Amino acid sequence: MAETKTFKVFRFKPQTDKKHRFDTFKVPCRPGMTVLQALNYIQENLDGSLAYRSSCREGICGSCAMHINGKYRLACETQVSHLSASITIRPMAHMDIIRDLVVDMTPFFEKLKAIKPYLIPGDPDEGAERIQTQDERAYLDYIVDCILCGACYASCAVNGYDDEYLGPAALAKANRFLMDSRDKADEQRLALVCDEHGVFRCHTLFNCQTVCPKNVDPTANIANLKRQIIARQLNPKFSKKGI
Ligand code: SF4
Ligand code: FES
Repeated sequence: MAETKTFKVFRFKPQTDKKHRFDTFKVPCRPGMTVLQALNYIQENLDGSLAYRSSCREGICGSCAMHINGKYRLACETQVSHLSASITIRPMAHMDIIRDLVVDMTPFFEKLKAIKPYLIPGDPDEGAERIQTQDERAYLDYIVDCILCGACYASCAVNGYDDEYLGPAALAKANRFLMDSRDKADEQRLALVCDEHGVFRCHTLFNCQTVCPKNVDPTANIANLKRQIIARQLNPKFSKKGI
């Protein structure tokens, strides 16, 4: 039987609204219903002007991250039945609001771009395969699963006061390529993350680790980047393969 729940949803249209408000909607919730399906219900039946992002509806595209009852989560993976009778939904923090729950993720992607999120393999022999052992690949498990949802970025307090801080997702990605056995750009990569807006700005608050829906664990990735930088300063001949 459907249980009616109350949704308080953040609303803001920067072009016309002086300030934000919360609109309240009553939604009949059937077993198995997700927050995304509740938002679809609101949009289709109660207020067609509600704006939010979604695409895959199964935790793959990363577009539906939002602040749901005090925590950043994927709306499509959050069961309404696991939440209280009253559900409050806000957009992600630290990014400008385009409308309602839709934010401008340009800074998030610009920072990702800045760490060169692609393999830099050096000069491979003509036609040679870039071999990687199972153990070498195993280090990358989970890190490669990032879906770029931005939940870690929004949950990070440092991103709230330092606009230039690279943030957890970009730094985790930097570690992903640094530790890839096929990548040959260690010095270049570490130089990109070692300034005042890079890894040493992180205060190890663990928010990113807590909210990540894919267990990427940006905190551990940032810690490894710090170790790699310090180890090289103590021993210039240090190699990442020495760990
Ligand atoms: S690290 Fe996790 S929380 Fe951050 S963008 Fe990737 S999947 Fe989302
Ligand atoms: S809609 Fe794709 S992750 Fe939620």
